[in-house]
Amino acid sequence: MTRRSQSPSPGRPPGFIYHKNRRGILRRGQSLIFHCDDVPLPKLAEKYGTPLYVYSASMIRERYVTFDDAFREIPHTICYSVKANSNLSILRLLARHGCGFDVVSGGELERVLAADRKAARRVVFSGVGKTREEMNAALKAGILLFNVESESELWVLAECAARLRTQAPLALRVNPDVAAETHPYISTGLHKHKFGVPIRNARALYAQASGAKSLRVAGVSVHIGSQITDVAPFGEALARVAELVRDLRADGHTIEYIDAGGGLGIAYEKPDPNGFSKDVTDYARALAEPLRGLGVHLLLEPGRSIVGPAGALITSVVYRKANDGKRFLVVDAAMNDMIRPALYSAYHEIVPVLLGENDGKPELVDVVGPVCESGDFFARDRELPPVEEAALLAILDAGAYGMALASNYNTRPRPTEVMVSGKSVKVIRRRERVSDLMRPEV
Ligand code: LLP
Repeated sequence: MTRRSQSPSPGRPPGFIYHKNRRGILRRGQSLIFHCDDVPLPKLAEKYGTPLYVYSASMIRERYVTFDDAFREIPHTICYSVKANSNLSILRLLARHGCGFDVVSGGELERVLAADRKAARRVVFSGVGKTREEMNAALKAGILLFNVESESELWVLAECAARLRTQAPLALRVNPDVAAETHPYISTGLHKHKFGVPIRNARALYAQASGAKSLRVAGVSVHIGSQITDVAPFGEALARVAELVRDLRADGHTIEYIDAGGGLGIAYEKPDPNGFSKDVTDYARALAEPLRGLGVHLLLEPGRSIVGPAGALITSVVYRKANDGKRFLVVDAAMNDMIRPALYSAYHEIVPVLLGENDGKPELVDVVGPVCESGDFFARDRELPPVEEAALLAILDAGAYGMALASNYNTRPRPTEVMVSGKSVKVIRRRERVSDLMRPEV
């Protein structure tokens, strides 16, 4: 294997990659430096400190374009799911490419409007608990579609729209009762889940909705869960939705949109050598099949698949320790910065930022944070090249549901976020200070 440029594991896209040490800034024996685009990560860690979120703008752009391109034969709009990573700079970057947005709160809507006011007409609003306040804000902004999840919500929306003397464009989010393999916390398409209305009740509800002057029936929506890597359940769900669309049209409704939700998974553990382009092509094919001849505009709400692999969390090893032979690397990032391993037992690849040619035998370690909970870990019994105290590690695939789920637990200020584009680096969120955290308190 050439040691000039090397992917941390085969099949990873090139946004994060090892490059050969050029200017001899490394100690003897060390030869590879992990980069984001053209920027060496040690440089960023030195300048901005750790823990540090680093994103590759080119990778986000490229993934968006690849996704969009896979659906080129179907009229469609991509509505990036803001919850995956809601940083304004990321929203702005996507908006510049014509991307729409899926929001689930008034807060997310405000972020989208702050990033690009004109993007409102490409916004879909999902979620089981929309408040009147949130609905009013969305109606005033003139969003594309409300994904309504219950009968009660339908009447509240009708009332809000009537008060504002406008019409609310809506789709009912139907629950297709399709099982998809994923973590139970992020599976949503079964009748036992809180989401949507049972598909068999949908026709009756559409009939009621079309009776309200302030509501405009415009589509049907579905979302069966997240981190789904087998595309068959997506096709199955859409087949059920397509059947419903035919019935609804026969009932006299105008159905312009099918919102297929998000959920396409990424390969955290073994990146597929054929990569994202193949996955998203398979996904597009699975969705296109049931839509054939239906003449609808497809809405898509990907989150993770756009930004997940485009971000890494950089952390320093604070201490090495061993308890009865079990080895730990205590790092300066913690579950408050990235909760996925603790919450979903999620796997994230971890790599040393500096890699030596004679690093010695890999060792089995737990990579843990400083928070006072045993759940505060990033990896357990993970084989890693031996690293010393103060070494830097990169936790990969942290672009989605990383910073977005970060908290201030243990009064830990959330990390700096930087965006790299080629050689350029921009701070897109500064590190919090403890004073920021205390400010709202009396
Ligand atoms: N649309 C709706 C209605 C959703 O509920 C979600 C995710 C998405 C789109 C975007 O799904 P994606 O393409 O990102 O899979 N915190 C969890 C994931 C929660 C997903 C919630 N809903 C994690 O870290 O895995």
